Amino acid sequence: MPGAIYAEGLVKTFGDVRALDGVDLDVPEGTVLGLLGPNGAGKTTAVRCLTTLLRPDSGSAVVAGIDVLKHPDAVRRSIGLSGQFAAVDEYLTGRENLQMVGRLYQMRAKAAKARAAELLEQFDLADAADRPTKTYSGGMRRRLDLAAALVVSPPVMFMDEPTTGLDPRNRQLLWDVIKRLVSGGTTLLLTTQYLEEADHLAHDIAVVDHGRLIAQGTSDQLKARTGGERVEVVVHERDDIATASEVLRGFGKGETTVEDHTRKLTVPVTGGAKLLAEVIRELDTRGIEIDDIGLRRPTLDDVFLSLTGHVAEEAVTSNEEDVKK
Ligand SMILES: Nc1ncnc2c1ncn2[C@@H]1O[C@H](COP(=O)(O)OP(=O)(O)O)[C@@H](O)[C@H]1O
Ligand SMILES: [Mg+2]
Repeated sequence: MPGAIYAEGLVKTFGDVRALDGVDLDVPEGTVLGLLGPNGAGKTTAVRCLTTLLRPDSGSAVVAGIDVLKHPDAVRRSIGLSGQFAAVDEYLTGRENLQMVGRLYQMRAKAAKARAAELLEQFDLADAADRPTKTYSGGMRRRLDLAAALVVSPPVMFMDEPTTGLDPRNRQLLWDVIKRLVSGGTTLLLTTQYLEEADHLAHDIAVVDHGRLIAQGTSDQLKARTGGERVEVVVHERDDIATASEVLRGFGKGETTVEDHTRKLTVPVTGGAKLLAEVIRELDTRGIEIDDIGLRRPTLDDVFLSLTGHVAEEAVTSNEEDVKK
């Protein structure tokens, strides 16, 4: 059974730019897929194809069980979309905007009013509800945009970089809302440039670069591909390095590396915190004094770097420079 969002071989070109170069996706119902990639990777193009706003050159897509190319209108009724291109009317108040969306979806006036009030509360916009949205800050607009996508609770949601450019407080607020939404059973495809965001919100992560999926898996699986977790120990006495190295060899899943001048030993492991505790006990039993010990897990930054040969954040800058030329 294909998932709630399914795509096969999506290709979209703009002139000689292959924005999507054969993308396959399968998002099980009730889960979150994080589409992660730098600026220009093809994320927005993918979202636009899946939400009927753009017709792919080739490939197929099924969303909420409906063929996107054959029945775009039916797809539109089953999805919510928030992102860079969603419209909020500047001259209406936040409340009016949300009520209008409700009416567009054929809600009765009273129900639309109640839903708007509920969302304004939830998104911390109640105080600003009756001001025209042109007076809103960037973070407030973003929240209103997301609230608008949630007026009717669609079974499938798309969010295109929902938190790009937000301050940490607003980002946290949106994360909380997104988590609550997903716990209600919504299937979500979320695009992001932030590795941390995908790590935080997504069950599965698809890494996209130059219109292609270059890796897919859970955050842990992607991290494991870069070598997985390691134990790092700094011993107090240089003379203990040899013994400590022997101890680590007993626990490690690979070669122990030693940095003499910092007295730091590193060994790849599996087993997490429990194993770490055992290592500490064993070092203690042997009478080895340690200055520092820890379990180091690769971050998604490490993952991106090892997959693409460049850092996600750096790629953003170089892309912007390309545009200026
Ligand atoms: N309407 C368009 N016309 C021409 N080129 C486009 C258009 N939309 C996107 N592109 C190009 O397609 C590529 C992917 O863009 P996009 O999907 O917006 O990436 P992302 O959302 O990951 O930043 C980029 O090289 C972009 O310049
Ligand atoms: Mg985009």
